[in-house]
Amino acid sequence: MVTRALPKLRSAVGTTVLRQPKLRPVSFLIEPFDLFLYGEEGALRALQGRFAAFVRALDGPARFATWHMPTSLRPLIDWTVGEAARTANPWRTSILMEYRQWYEELERAGDFQQALCGLTVWAKPETGAASPGAAAQAALATRVVEANWPPLARGEYRIKAGPLWHLEPVGRPSGRPLLCLLGTYSFKSVEWTFFRPLAGLFSMGVPLGMVVDVPRTWESHEAVSKLEGVITAMQAHLATTRALDTASQRQVADASAALAELHAGQALHDVQIKIAVAADDAETLKARVEEVRGRLRPYLGVRVEVGADQVRAARYFSTEPTARLEGRPSTWPMTSPALALTLGFLGLRKLEPRRGIVRGASAGGGWPYIYDDWETSQGKKAVHECWVGTTGAGKTFALNCYLSRTLAHYGIPFDLLEPMGHGQMLAAAFNIRAYSLSARRTSLNPHDPVYGRVGEQIAHVIRLYETFLQRPLGGDPAGNIQASLLSQALYRHYQGHDLRTMTPAQAPLVEDVMDTLAGLGETERIKAMAREFAEEIAGLATGSGPYGHFLNGHTSVDFSIAGEEQPRIFTFHEMEEDDVLIAIAYTQVLAALMRTALSNDSPRVIAVDEVYRMMRHPALLKFLINAVKTLRTRRKKVIVIDQQMRVFVSDPAARLLFENCPIRVIFAQRGGEDVFYADPAFAHYTDQHRKIIAELPRFRFLMETDEGIFYLDSQASRAELRRYGSS
Ligand SMILES: Nc1ncnc2c1ncn2[C@@H]1O[C@H](COP(=O)(O)OP(=O)(O)OP(=O)(O)O)[C@@H](O)[C@H]1O
Ligand SMILES: [Mg+2]
Repeated sequence: MVTRALPKLRSAVGTTVLRQPKLRPVSFLIEPFDLFLYGEEGALRALQGRFAAFVRALDGPARFATWHMPTSLRPLIDWTVGEAARTANPWRTSILMEYRQWYEELERAGDFQQALCGLTVWAKPETGAASPGAAAQAALATRVVEANWPPLARGEYRIKAGPLWHLEPVGRPSGRPLLCLLGTYSFKSVEWTFFRPLAGLFSMGVPLGMVVDVPRTWESHEAVSKLEGVITAMQAHLATTRALDTASQRQVADASAALAELHAGQALHDVQIKIAVAADDAETLKARVEEVRGRLRPYLGVRVEVGADQVRAARYFSTEPTARLEGRPSTWPMTSPALALTLGFLGLRKLEPRRGIVRGASAGGGWPYIYDDWETSQGKKAVHECWVGTTGAGKTFALNCYLSRTLAHYGIPFDLLEPMGHGQMLAAAFNIRAYSLSARRTSLNPHDPVYGRVGEQIAHVIRLYETFLQRPLGGDPAGNIQASLLSQALYRHYQGHDLRTMTPAQAPLVEDVMDTLAGLGETERIKAMAREFAEEIAGLATGSGPYGHFLNGHTSVDFSIAGEEQPRIFTFHEMEEDDVLIAIAYTQVLAALMRTALSNDSPRVIAVDEVYRMMRHPALLKFLINAVKTLRTRRKKVIVIDQQMRVFVSDPAARLLFENCPIRVIFAQRGGEDVFYADPAFAHYTDQHRKIIAELPRFRFLMETDEGIFYLDSQASRAELRRYGSS
């Protein structure tokens, strides 16, 4: 897109519009997104189209701003140190000290900046703040919240005269920088992109602020007639001069092209840009100002503001209306698509200095992405997560890091269900015992009470029976009768008991229930069916049947949470490779965890690795979906992990599970990338996202949260690498 060097347009109403007294500023902060995830022509054009549509709908003055200022991991470090002091748990203290050391290392190695973006629109008082905010959020496809802008500078400043005019803090600077304000005075007719020239400024690491001030969006008929007037006048001038006037010819061409855009529905805006460069000393300031001007020179005429204009320009970083700051602002006309390109800075994310868990390092920028899962300060509920990635992509390692960071920082424990035995490593790190389940040593009674209501409990038990019988009970006449008989048998054992207080030791055994079942039935035919059904079940799940030991016994694992803070690990690698058994074991453990989890609101993470082992049994998938929904209401975060995203979206029931997991972590998919193109759940992904997914190297992933999509590196501390680095 070429920004055209359009002639300045003046009109009688030009400045009176700006003085409309009734307009009221409403300011917003905009969550930056990641422009590099749009690194492809088509996606960028679509983005430009959306931004242009937003600006062309402006019916009053507007101002965009961004601040890229030095920041640090200090809030994270201070919180870590504070938690270490507050906790009475010596393990947490020592692990927190390790994390602190890691953060200090990152802090020393990185030169972090924070990126803030703001928007102010001047609207009629009757327009609520919600409507421009909602419009901006929809058009910019990122979070927009009504909020005051941060100040450009704190404390008192005075003007310092040339050679380089700038502002200098009065009194002790105590970290307050010098500021030099620059302003645009002309726009050249050159090719612009989202990155060049403006957004590129913010990758230099220089502390900068920038305002794109749009004091006026023209009425289209007025803009058209003005431009037409200019073109006619210039053509007349060209017709009368003999000399070759390429500059004027160029202007006519630019104005005509802009006119064509206006006819195509675009708007014309008056635009000016103010830039604040910061530095701790005059020499650095001078060098930085030169660097900035040098970068912009091919595109924009930029000058250092002189005298009181230094202060005036600084005041643009607020909600003071342009008309009050300057009678004749040095604006330049720009069409909406060109103005859209000045907003590339909205696509530059940097470090958010806050407390939370480090979820990885930005693959492009190196800064850690810190996410507060629990938003403890706001009392929010944790959100479930769905992780996918092929073998060796780094899921288990990242999970171990996540679980230990969460336990160390928040004191929030976890339950891990995993089939490979890697849990032993985590157990060693936490000095806890991993429960290894084995069909020969362990018993998990399918009748253990999970739900408080008999109806729900019986439905749950029947799902377990369906799983080891490997057929649904119901749907056909014989199946319906079997389900009803089994319900009756179970009911006889549960009735009269309070399931909420029933202990596993009091739960009936499979053989007891089968005895009851075998005696049911009114007619001979039904009696025979009951006996036959009881024999079938007993043959599988009692005595020397394949599941006899595992299912027909009182539960031998103590699931009652002794210490609420204790993490627990359940590994299934000693389960004989029996698909059905492993699935039932997963369910039983999860059901037992649920029983305790539902009795309190203390936060907890429940991570289920290789969750497909449950998902491929329809009855258990239903249980899982139900569990996930219920756990969320009790502040439990579930993380389900598997290899392929396809597993989660291809089946309508599995999809429910996926939809209940708003945070998504996507490691390499190798061969399963088509869902990211075909499935509507990923319609908001750009082709760049898909390309990244297709090419993800080991230990890298895409993470989607309520804050956007992040391309991250699974970054770990040295202590973590030592502990979990050999899974
Ligand atoms: N960020 C990392 N830095 C260094 N090594 C890592 C990192 N992430 C993973 N690894 C190592 O790579 C190997 C594979 O990782 P991991 O076991 O986490 O893969 P996975 O995705 O869980 O695979 P699977 O699906 O087979 O369980 C392990 O040896 C692990 O220690
Ligand atoms: Mg793994």
